[in-house]
Amino acid sequence: MIVSPSSAFKVVDVKVICVEALDPKLCSNVLNSKSGGAKDVDLVTLAQYTIDVARDNITNTINLIKSFIIKSGNDPEANAHYETCLMHFDDENETCVLSDIDYTQELLKKGRYGGVNIGATAVRIDVGDCIIGVTPDDPPYPDKSNIPQYADVILHVVKIILIISNYLTQK
Ligand SMILES: *[C@@H]1O[C@H](CO)[C@@H](O)[C@H](O)[C@H]1NC(C)=O
Ligand SMILES: *[C@@H]1O[C@H](CO)[C@@H](O)[C@H](O)[C@H]1NC(C)=O
Repeated sequence: MIVSPSSAFKVVDVKVICVEALDPKLCSNVLNSKSGGAKDVDLVTLAQYTIDVARDNITNTINLIKSFIIKSGNDPEANAHYETCLMHFDDENETCVLSDIDYTQELLKKGRYGGVNIGATAVRIDVGDCIIGVTPDDPPYPDKSNIPQYADVILHVVKIILIISNYLTQK
């Protein structure tokens, strides 16, 4: 795929991007906090900012899951759930949320914007595998921790990456 330099320097107003977001306020907070409210930040830079935020949120969530693995030591069902969740987030041998976001980052650097969309979608799927389970007959664990809220933040932030990647792949 040939990437025209013009697409890399395309500028779309943060307001226009965030109208499509799941949480427009969170979206403009993420994009404006990094761009300082500048109007002329190109899409690749905004995507980079958003991937950085998503990665921070993923790292925070992994640390939170690890703390719940320790706290749930006396509750085998909870403990097994958090161990499984951790595998979906951070596993050195399998694709997981952390490897997905790093892959997304790598593809952005290479200018492979269609791949950025695929990587961000993989993040969402792997987050869902932790929160709602892998198969429909596997009922979601009634998690009372704040892990689902952290996961929600990741999904919202990654949705912004998807919106930006759609603009980047438009001809
Ligand atoms: C997500 O990351 C942003 C930027 O680093 C931070 O301000 C926010 O508190 C994080 N939220 C969670 C739930 O990790
Ligand atoms: C990853 O694979 C290596 C080599 O097969 C193995 O030694 C290691 O235990 C695996 N790590 C995990 C977390 O499964």
